[in-house]
Amino acid sequence: MAEPRPSGASVPASTQTARGAMGEALLEIVDLQKLFPLTQGIVFRKTVGHVRAVDGVNLTLHRGETVGLVGESGCGKSTVAKLLVALEKPTGGTIRYKGEDVAKMGGRALKRYRREVQIIFQDPYGSLNPRMTVGDIVAEGWSVHADVAPRKGRLQRTQELLERVGLNPDYVNRYPHQFSGGQRQRIGIARALAMQPEVIVCDEPVSALDVSVQAQVVNLLEDLQDDFGMSYLFIAHDLSVVRHLSDRIAVMYLGSVVEEGTEAQVYGSPSHPYTQALLSSVPLHEPALRGQKDRILLQGDVPSPADPPSGCRFRTRCWKAQDICATEPPALIDRGQGHPAACHFAEAREVVPVEVAE
Ligand SMILES: Nc1ncnc2c1ncn2[C@@H]1O[C@H](COP(=O)(O)OP(=O)(O)OP(=O)(O)O)[C@@H](O)[C@H]1O
Ligand code: SF4
Ligand SMILES: [Mg+2]
Repeated sequence: MAEPRPSGASVPASTQTARGAMGEALLEIVDLQKLFPLTQGIVFRKTVGHVRAVDGVNLTLHRGETVGLVGESGCGKSTVAKLLVALEKPTGGTIRYKGEDVAKMGGRALKRYRREVQIIFQDPYGSLNPRMTVGDIVAEGWSVHADVAPRKGRLQRTQELLERVGLNPDYVNRYPHQFSGGQRQRIGIARALAMQPEVIVCDEPVSALDVSVQAQVVNLLEDLQDDFGMSYLFIAHDLSVVRHLSDRIAVMYLGSVVEEGTEAQVYGSPSHPYTQALLSSVPLHEPALRGQKDRILLQGDVPSPADPPSGCRFRTRCWKAQDICATEPPALIDRGQGHPAACHFAEAREVVPVEVAE
């Protein structure tokens, strides 16, 4: 790890952390699947179906890059996050870390994986144990991964971490309820950082926070990435949140990735009808652009992941659907538009760009 900068050093919002040369593939997710059984009966529980929470996700995260994973509520983003940090076990597919299949990892390799791939949760209230002090929360992982921090210097290291995430190091003995939502999220970041991770899965880390503190937390994450060079999978339900911090964006719909590309490709020439609709519905703050906006209104609701449509999952809401869409699931491939999209009729289309979140 590189030496941390002095605490409190801020990075301008426009600074991009990892743009440019792409590093080695750290995480490779291939056809990942997670089905949750649907049961009936209280005494004799019977499986009557499955919620297809994640159903064929393909995604790669390279060293030092940020991938934004975006999609509506319930499309499977948090389930992907939990699968990545081994809080859930996949029903199918593969997660490879540094070339090694995580499902086949034994004791020491799995322990290292669990340390190197950390998570920051969406809920800054529920994700911190209210009965533990902040110092104990940050240091908790060291009881399992003792080699990361020598026992003797742990208090000092904890205080350094608190300071690094913008908290007063003297608060080490306080409890989570004594902090605001933004400060709690900083505690969660310090806890992840304590493990010296290579990857941090950020599951909507700012969506529960006030708009005024969202940018501060995002800037902190960018600043830390500059210092330590880790990779982020940054989950959000809004395309505008991930835009300025992501090197690549993956758009999810009903359990799978429907479009993937660089920030310029996904925002500049979206080619899946769902991405186009999402981009068109982002509110514009710039009055001059409002008249040019080409709003695409989606029909109906997202179908249940317990009973998804045949063929293309998006077909029940798609204005371009043809007969083939009901029978043939479209592969996530490049059909000449320059980046992969899961649509038989993928076609780049300019949508008036969304505003970058300040
Ligand atoms: N443990 C579980 N048992 C059964 N179903 C589950 C479980 N966890 C998630 N699901 C279902 O899987 C689907 C995907 O849930 P998930 O939490 O991954 O979505 P999400 O994209 O993170 O949504 P949000 O934006 O609201 O956080 C949902 O239909 C959800 O109800
Ligand atoms: S495959 Fe068909 S239904 Fe699916 S997004 Fe493309 S046109 Fe629409
Ligand atoms: Mg979620």
